[in-house]
Amino acid sequence: MAESMKGLHRTHRAAEVTEKDLGSTVTLMGWVQKSRNKGGIIFVDLRDRSGIMQLIFEQPVEGEEADLSRFIDAEGFAKAEKLRSEFVIAVTGIVEKRAGGINENLKTGALEVRVNSIRILSESETPPFPIEAGSKTKEEIRLKYRYLDLRRPDIQNNLIFRSNVAKSIRNFLSGEGFLEIETPILNRSTPEGARDYLVPSRVHPGNFYALPQSPQLFKQILMCSGYDRYYQIAKCFRDEDLRADRQPEFTQIDMELSFVDVDDVIDVNERLIQKVFKDNLGIDVPIPMQRMTWQEAMDRFGSDKPDVRFGMELHDVSEVVKDSEFAVFKNALAAGGSVRGINAKGQAEMPRKKIDALVDFVKDFGAKGLAYLAILPDGTCKSSFAKFMTEDELKALVEAMEGEAGDMLFFAADKNKVVWDSLGNLRLEIARNLGLLDKNEYRFLWVTEFPLLEWSEEENRYVAMHHPFTMPMDEDIPLLDTDPGRVRAKAYDCVLNGCELGGGSVRIHQADIQEKMFSQLGIATEEAYEKFGFLLNAFKYGVPPHAGLAFGFDRMVMLMVQADNIREVIAFPKVKDASCLMSEAPNTVDPKQLEELKLSIVE
Ligand code: AMO
Ligand code: AMP
Repeated sequence: MAESMKGLHRTHRAAEVTEKDLGSTVTLMGWVQKSRNKGGIIFVDLRDRSGIMQLIFEQPVEGEEADLSRFIDAEGFAKAEKLRSEFVIAVTGIVEKRAGGINENLKTGALEVRVNSIRILSESETPPFPIEAGSKTKEEIRLKYRYLDLRRPDIQNNLIFRSNVAKSIRNFLSGEGFLEIETPILNRSTPEGARDYLVPSRVHPGNFYALPQSPQLFKQILMCSGYDRYYQIAKCFRDEDLRADRQPEFTQIDMELSFVDVDDVIDVNERLIQKVFKDNLGIDVPIPMQRMTWQEAMDRFGSDKPDVRFGMELHDVSEVVKDSEFAVFKNALAAGGSVRGINAKGQAEMPRKKIDALVDFVKDFGAKGLAYLAILPDGTCKSSFAKFMTEDELKALVEAMEGEAGDMLFFAADKNKVVWDSLGNLRLEIARNLGLLDKNEYRFLWVTEFPLLEWSEEENRYVAMHHPFTMPMDEDIPLLDTDPGRVRAKAYDCVLNGCELGGGSVRIHQADIQEKMFSQLGIATEEAYEKFGFLLNAFKYGVPPHAGLAFGFDRMVMLMVQADNIREVIAFPKVKDASCLMSEAPNTVDPKQLEELKLSIVE
């Protein structure tokens, strides 16, 4: 039978008891991790969110004289005999030095609590998997029983860490004069990249709210309204394909500042990151952080979120191979593309099977193939294309690639986008295979000067690379009319170890530039007003120059705790098909609810 809490108060969390408490009486409450009955003595590991404390239950030996305060009575001992894993108990007892050996793995490994009274607060069925760190249980099972999974110390530590990071962020931003302001969840659709989650309105049948993809428009309005520094730890919703670092609902550290330009936003955010890493990991992040333009990032790393923990940079060899007879190179160049390569140092003897796997790998990124050239230790070459090239051409190519005996060179020839994507990812794949990525190393990087617009083959028009309110670089504004594809934006991403941690931009606050932007995006003025007229109208009444940024909070915590998946730092995450295995959301609803909403389901 479950007993009550009446008259009992917890004095400590289990692992918060220290040597200082030796000899004193404590009351602990928590879950039974395990229990061992050694005849007259029962040992129990008591677990709560702080950790584990060993409890000892002992009865005085009949006939022997004993200090009764150190023992438990027959009724209490009988209860201790009943304990099973995950029973919830309250115990009162004396803190003592462990009589048995010290457990070096536990914070409380030198202590135990000698119990003199116990209450069983609730019993437990046998859990479907053991509650322990480093679980081997399949993730589907863990997520179905998330309430049990959340008891495991590694997940608990992640969530405690997450809470501490949030606290550092709030402290820092509040100290910098930022106001925490909430923005609505039930909105009109915002013009950001992903698909919206929609919520039908009962009061306005046929109308829908959209859940925010980010608080973008509202934070810009707050700037118009004079709040000059805003932040929010904001829930965002995007109906997009999930990956290891993506959830349909996720959290941003969202901010906006007035009367600033690029450097001001970067400065405050570098100090924010520095503080968060110092407070929570004890790591000193050097600032100012490295910066790189988008163009340089693409040319050197084939990615707008380069992992700069290792080299293996891309080399553009288009000039070097432009006269060669190798059709693959020739055709790519003739079509306006490029030929680029990477040098996998010391990998000349990579087995054929591994090479084939890499050729397959780049196909996922649109590459039609991958040419390779191994410079064997004896100076001879093994290559998929050397036969199409002259001795001199090969020599020049190897030189351009800084190739030495023992190196393996890979080349891709195609449109720039395909070449960048293929080699950028190949570079990462090789680094992963060679174990070059050290999770203990945190390399931050700002990628700046993104293109403002991106040509969409699908829609046959320009689309905003960031969003339609992003400001062009001052010197590129004239190009908006003449050569929009070349306009660079005042947009910046914060990249950590190849992961896009955050991004933002300076916003357009001038009506004429905004109009040009809309016209390049093929958005008619009426349409713009229809979609986000409230923002454009607000701009008519005195708008300060403003800029902002949002970090992916889940991603930040994931990288800080070195988890492989964002789900490890979210209490109740969703799986690949955007469902929650525990609550079984999404789900059907009562026909009455549909009726009220005037909705019917099309089979
Ligand atoms: P952006 O779309 O780049 O910018 O988003 C900012 C950051 O949010 C994180 N993020 C995600 N994290 C988990 N799951 C997702 N599905 C997901 N999508 C994005 C990323 C990303 O860098 N309003 C702008 C910011 C601004 O301009 O101020 C915005 O939302 O870490
Ligand atoms: P092929 O003449 O098609 O047999 O190709 C010769 C070599 O070039 C093979 O190693 C192919 O994998 C490689 N290759 C094919 N297409 C490309 C490409 N677009 N870029 C780089 N290498 C390629």
